[in-house]
Amino acid sequence: MPAELLDPSRRATLLLAGAAAALLTGCAKGDEGDEGVSATEDLMREHGVLRRILVVYRGTASLLRAPAGSLDVGALADAVALFQTFGEDYHERKLEEEYIFPTVKKKGGEAAALVATLLDQHKRGRELNAYIKAKCAAGAVGTGDVEPLAAALETFARMYEAHTAYEDTIVFQAWRASMSAAQLHDAGETFEDIERAQFKGDGFDLAVDQIEKIEERLGLHDLAHYTAPDPA
Ligand SMILES: [Fe+2]
Ligand SMILES: [Fe+2]
Repeated sequence: MPAELLDPSRRATLLLAGAAAALLTGCAKGDEGDEGVSATEDLMREHGVLRRILVVYRGTASLLRAPAGSLDVGALADAVALFQTFGEDYHERKLEEEYIFPTVKKKGGEAAALVATLLDQHKRGRELNAYIKAKCAAGAVGTGDVEPLAAALETFARMYEAHTAYEDTIVFQAWRASMSAAQLHDAGETFEDIERAQFKGDGFDLAVDQIEKIEERLGLHDLAHYTAPDPA
């Protein structure tokens, strides 16, 4: 039945329902950038790349300690370089420290209280990556460096696993909640522009390609390798 033939109260109900649906659709679209990836999804999938580097760090710590000493040191150096370009120079400095943390800090609350620690961890991460890179520079790891290097890789992974988990569940959620749909849409586009300027292409796709190659060189690319053993 055409809307104009409905009784006034039924027509008002339908108009309200239509307006609510339009508003919801607008919110969903407003959160997305050019390629349909929202700003928060963008940040969280970047964490996915960084966590794959953490998996490589833990894996290489075990390979370093293995008696056969079969580690491809060049592949570990490439993993560090990827963390420095994609994690430190782009994700941390260009997005979190420039956009996310200042907004979250201004808003106050639980997320704001985490910012000082997150910044400390960015700094410690950079120091640890510089240390790991220096230990890989000669193309081989001396016997006396095996344990300190393995410990640096493991402590980095432990710190950054917690770091990304707190950012994903508290900090990014607070940032998202502080923005309007239009602001989130603009942020998504700004993030994409920064990514393209930094990497001269899709930085996420390039980083995924690189981490896959590093995993393959280290024999760490098979997901099934990480399936936990049967406890029985
Ligand atoms: Fe961070
Ligand atoms: Fe992060």
